[in-house]
Formats: sequence, C-alpha cells, structure tokens
Amino acid sequence: MAITPPSQRIWWKEPIAKIELIWIAIAFTWGLFMFFMMIYWHGAGEQNLSNEAYKTTAQQYARKAQAVIDEYTVRQENGFPVVRPPEGSDVYLIARLWQWWPILELEKDKSYRLHLSSMDWQHGFSLQPVNINVQVHPGYDMVVTVRPDQAGEYGIVCNEFCGIGHHNMVGKIYVVE
Ligand code: CUA
Repeated sequence: MAITPPSQRIWWKEPIAKIELIWIAIAFTWGLFMFFMMIYWHGAGEQNLSNEAYKTTAQQYARKAQAVIDEYTVRQENGFPVVRPPEGSDVYLIARLWQWWPILELEKDKSYRLHLSSMDWQHGFSLQPVNINVQVHPGYDMVVTVRPDQAGEYGIVCNEFCGIGHHNMVGKIYVVE
C-alpha cells in the first residue's frame, strides 16, 4: 500500500534499470543452481534418505507390525518386546502417543527395510546420535532401507510436537555385531 501515488502513473512501463536486471539474473541463476544442488546433494551428501511411502491404515499397519513382533521377539525389556528380525526383512516400528514400539535389534552391516507409521497423529522419527530424521504420518507407511554401520545403542526421540507426553516419547534400536 502506497501512502502517496507514484509520480509516474504508468510506472510498470518504465524501462528496467540495468542494475536491477543484473540482480534478477543473479537471483534466477542462483535459484537454478540451488535447485540442482538439491538433486546432486541427495546422492552426494548422504543426508537425505531415499524413502518410499505407501498408503495404509492404522489397523493394517498394526497387524503387519504385530506379525513381525510375534515371530521375532527375542526378549522383553521394561515391558517392551525386543524384536530381532532376519537380515533383509521388513522391520516395523509403530509410533503412537507416546512411544516407539517395539525395541529393535539389528545386525551391523546388514540391510533392513524399516517401516514407520503412526497410529494417531504426526510424530518425528529422529535417530540419535546419528541424527537421521523421518516424518511419521498416520495413514502412510514410510519405508527406509537402512544398513547400520556401527554397533551400539541408538535412541529414537520424537521431534515433532505431539502433546503432553511428547518429551517422553523415546525409543531404542540396538545394533549388534
Ligand atoms: Cu511424538 Cu512428539
């Protein structure tokens, strides 16, 4: 909103100043550069995950997850099943208010298809200390192919605010030799 009208009523027909044209060209070129950097960095930066997403429902997803839990639970830990599925298999993690279910135990240098979905609303899967982040939505089965390259105990924290218990929404993944 202008306080006073422009002195030239037909201001949009003024020739563009050279310096302005140069800046438009610089901004446009930079924008293009950044656009192609996103594609390049996806492969070279090893930070962005190439995930797959499929439509699902909470019931459907929970059923698949429970089947894997029933088959491959090796022990209990504080009321959580510790699930150790075979190499190359589909591994399920359920996000819900306010926990990550179950605890997973994976083998170092083996690949798994890690599935993530939410039973209620949006959660954020953040794997620590490696800082891998995936958005977890209800109704979507997010699949990430993982190949842990270091043994140890990894923490999962929820990094998407999901209510009163958000700060307690932590989980665990073991990677064993
Ligand atoms: Cu789940 Cu915050």
